[in-house]
Amino acid sequence: ASLSPFQNEAFLDFTLAENKRAMEAALTKVAGLLGREYDMVVGGRRLKTEGKIESVNPARPKQVVGVHQRAEAEHAEGAVEAARAAFVGWSRVPVAERAELLLKASGLIRERKFEFCAWLTLEVGKNWAEADADVGETIDFLEFYAREALKLDGAVTPIQMPGERNRLRYIPLGVGAVIPPWNFPFAIMAGMTAAAIVCGNTVVLKPSVDAPTIAAEFMKLLEEVGLPDGVVNFCPGEGPGFGSALVAHPQVRFISFTGSKAVGLEIHERAAKTQPGQIFIKRTVLEMGGKDAIIVAADCDLDAAVEGVAASAFGFNGQKCSACSRAIVDASVYDAFLERLQVRVDSIKVGDPAENFAAGPVISEKAYQRVLSYLEVAKSEGRVLNGGHAVETAEGGYYVAPTVVADVAPTARLAQEEIFGPVLAVIKSTSLDEALAIANNTEYGLTGAIYAGTREALDQASEEFHVGNLYLNRKCTGAMVGAHPFGGFNMSGTDSKAGGPDYLLLFTQAKSVAEKV
Ligand code: NAD
Ligand code: ALA
Repeated sequence: ASLSPFQNEAFLDFTLAENKRAMEAALTKVAGLLGREYDMVVGGRRLKTEGKIESVNPARPKQVVGVHQRAEAEHAEGAVEAARAAFVGWSRVPVAERAELLLKASGLIRERKFEFCAWLTLEVGKNWAEADADVGETIDFLEFYAREALKLDGAVTPIQMPGERNRLRYIPLGVGAVIPPWNFPFAIMAGMTAAAIVCGNTVVLKPSVDAPTIAAEFMKLLEEVGLPDGVVNFCPGEGPGFGSALVAHPQVRFISFTGSKAVGLEIHERAAKTQPGQIFIKRTVLEMGGKDAIIVAADCDLDAAVEGVAASAFGFNGQKCSACSRAIVDASVYDAFLERLQVRVDSIKVGDPAENFAAGPVISEKAYQRVLSYLEVAKSEGRVLNGGHAVETAEGGYYVAPTVVADVAPTARLAQEEIFGPVLAVIKSTSLDEALAIANNTEYGLTGAIYAGTREALDQASEEFHVGNLYLNRKCTGAMVGAHPFGGFNMSGTDSKAGGPDYLLLFTQAKSVAEKV
């Protein structure tokens, strides 16, 4: 039977009593599952390592969410070998069967949605709506890539040569390394994995050390739906040790990475070096950081702009690659904008995401120290309007107050470096031309938005604002699978456009077959 057309998963409405109750019940249930030890899974075999990784709740760092094995460089060989062995069979499984497994997994996630939300809340500190968006995007990726794989399977050449039958078959690449970040630890991790395997590849999945538990729960789900052994090999480990060894392995055909610029560039270099025994050029899909801007033009709906900037800058505490970290505001509305923004940001309540506070902790002690160090920089680079300090709690959570810094120069560190926390720099501009020049003047190019009241301004931004995902009169976060294929320009990455019609091509190679008839 043919599949229904793709539809984005609807968001949960947590103002409904039944959803609130269900989320609270899921949090209680998952709280009872914390602290368990998870195995490394290689070729279906469950393995333990001497070293362990402890994943903790950033709102209560003493609470261990999961204990994981710690793969080291020497574990890369076994993991890649298991993936190689599984590739022989998996690459020959009909696409329809591979897609069916993704759909089964998405069905189970939908059934257990609240529970997955609770894992996200407890492992990375997402409030309920942010957790739901992550789970919803996971379902969307699985549903979307299942359909896209079937489409790709039916591809033909644009022209049929008279006297021939011409086919274009998109065959898998081989063994891949999947290296996701911690900030969309379900959607990006599962999306990258699903895209690779639905095309017939097999992978070694190395989750972030800050979010391995949600990945382990996904691995359990894949086993439950009947994914053959070795198609996904689950290996938590540090980036520089195990991750690097994986990237350099001569049998790893592709690396699918999402994370910071520094690590993406390192992977790019390492993967470019041909290893003894390597018979192909490695392919890298590298999605990296951002320094995303929202332009607020003179003639815009100022309340909408304030809301869009606040939501984009402080949703999940600014820990999205898509987050607005620069507001570039026209001089004629600058003071009015700041006045309203200050009130709006003051209303953001900081506290435990399990209790559904709007602003939760940043991910780790390391991130906390990094963000605090930028708050020091803020004192000399601008005027701190909101926040500018840590928020202490009895549980020792890594909280930083939502911070707005006005009068920042376009070239200041605050306006150039990805902070990845709840810190917004506000920059004054005197014309749309200048605002666009400021917006484009970073090494990144991921998301951007403009609030403007005229067609001309929106059209000019469409042409000149150089980002992979541009939004007109709406916030710059919250890309939806299918509608907003996601990926950035320049140092934001290889513009892979996850959730778009071209994404699966990255995990295939096209084989032209011409038959004389
Ligand atoms: P990170 O670069 O620190 O880590 C990402 C992954 O790479 C992790 O699994 C990590 O263990 C691994 N890694 C680290 N060093 C490695 C090495 N030398 N070799 C191989 N693997 C290595 O990033 P993060 O802190 O997890 O995530 C935040 C970053 O990700 C931000 O910069 C954010 O903008 C970016 N991000 C980008 C997108 C996008 O689509 N462009 C989406 C989400 C996050
Ligand atoms: N896909 C995420 C967003 O658009 C990163 O916010």
